[in-house]
Amino acid sequence: MGRLKDLRKYVDTEINKMEDADKRTGAIAHLYGVSLAATMIAKKRGQDPEIASMAAMLHDLHAYKTGSYDDHAHKGADLAGEILRELAITNEAETEAICSAIYHHDDKLVVDGPMDEVLKDADVIHHCMNDLSKPIKEKEQVRYEKLCAEFGIGKDK
Ligand SMILES: [Fe+2]
Ligand SMILES: [Fe+2]
Repeated sequence: MGRLKDLRKYVDTEINKMEDADKRTGAIAHLYGVSLAATMIAKKRGQDPEIASMAAMLHDLHAYKTGSYDDHAHKGADLAGEILRELAITNEAETEAICSAIYHHDDKLVVDGPMDEVLKDADVIHHCMNDLSKPIKEKEQVRYEKLCAEFGIGKDK
């Protein structure tokens, strides 16, 4: 079994502990949606798509486990490190790259490293494109427009 599959199995088990069925569905849809978007963006930018996808699978797990988004990016980075070291599916450099991306993923208005940016943009793609009838959040507007330009997507929906 590949390590992405191993990680997804672990994440699925954690998400399935959530009591609210709707929140469970939403969590799975978001993590897998961001994971797919991260793969695509990473491939486009010459970043490692597997690492990007793994970061995406873990990026909001702390929030889902605790029910709180309070400082979830920073706390989630620590949690991701613990999980990856326990599962022993990444080397230290890969673990650090994944944790860094998760640590910075809520800082949508600043530009960080290339892999950090892949996760931020994948998160924005899922927020903005999961349901096109929903308005774009103000803090994601500029990033979304840049992504549409990068991928040749016209502004008119
Ligand atoms: Fe998040
Ligand atoms: Fe997210």
